[in-house]
Amino acid sequence: MIRPLVILPDPVLRQVSRPVERVDDDLRRLADDMLETMYDAPGIGLAAIQIGVPLRLLVIDLAKEDQPKEPQVIVNPQIVAHGDAASVYEEGCLSIPEYYAEVERPATVTVACLDRDGKERTIEADGLMATCLQHEIDHLNGVLFIDHISKLKRDMVVRKFRKLARDKAADRTPGRLAV
Ligand code: NI
Repeated sequence: MIRPLVILPDPVLRQVSRPVERVDDDLRRLADDMLETMYDAPGIGLAAIQIGVPLRLLVIDLAKEDQPKEPQVIVNPQIVAHGDAASVYEEGCLSIPEYYAEVERPATVTVACLDRDGKERTIEADGLMATCLQHEIDHLNGVLFIDHISKLKRDMVVRKFRKLARDKAADRTPGRLAV
């Protein structure tokens, strides 16, 4: 089931998510909803908090559009090591639609997590996967990619999305439709 996305400046995005206690069918159903929501958007990664569920759960699929899907379900991820080299990617976020900015992060990370069967896994990531994992793990701690850009740019984006949210709320006021 496709779930509605939580959009900036919703304070839910600033919540710190709690660890998943059990990897069971309910959790797998939630992960499947997240994948469906992510593919529909479309995006390459999604954290549970982006559909309003404060659990440490991510889905990622970096497969190209014309390639078979490679869904990854990542539970309770922890960055256990990162390399010294940095890399820069132009990042976007399904919770901050149509805004992109360059972000510098460690180019390689080692992430310990559970998979969709609850098995322990270690992911050695570089390139796009390293950036994507760090972006999504940030979400679990209430951090957004715009926290990694200049305050000036961040304030501009937040102001823009506050205004969009206000305009949208105004559109939904029933009295206004009658005017
Ligand atoms: Ni994001």
